[in-house]
Amino acid sequence: MDKRLGLTGLVVGQTSADGPAHLPRKMSRGLVDVLAGVPLFAGLSRRHLTRIAGLASSKRYAAGSALVKSGAPGESVFVILDGRAMVRAGARRISLGIGDFFGEMSLLDGEPRSATVTAQTDVLVMMIPRRKFIKLLEKEPRIAIAVMSTLSRRVRALQAAADV
Ligand code: CMP
Repeated sequence: MDKRLGLTGLVVGQTSADGPAHLPRKMSRGLVDVLAGVPLFAGLSRRHLTRIAGLASSKRYAAGSALVKSGAPGESVFVILDGRAMVRAGARRISLGIGDFFGEMSLLDGEPRSATVTAQTDVLVMMIPRRKFIKLLEKEPRIAIAVMSTLSRRVRALQAAADV
């Protein structure tokens, strides 16, 4: 996979530390091209990708800042559009890059965030609010399966690390 996902030229100037910005139409079009390269959304039509882009907001985080904090309520799922983020789950450190997602666990079970996720570099993320993401999963079984497949891989990695 092309790890740049064609991000050059994507208009992101509207986002800031003030909070998430809803994506203007022009950016939303650029975002659709970006989403087409994200494995989570593989195989979806442009119409579906446009709908997903319409649900999302974007935000930039400076390197070192926390994107989600362990124990906090989970309001959104995040997809990394640029940069890298680090998950701290117990003693484990998992580095996530462009196209990876996180924050799905709280969304699915309603429990607080299971881990802290920090920006390793400056990071641009797309955020989909909980209720909209759940609706998306209900409508798009392929996305639900992709999320389950990632969860399954994460459990396997934890099992392998715990040697069970
Ligand atoms: P959530 O619990 O909502 O918020 C923290 C996120 O970190 C979590 O969802 C997952 O997306 C991610 N996460 C937690 N544990 C792991 C792990 N062991 N491997 C990869 N990602 C994880």
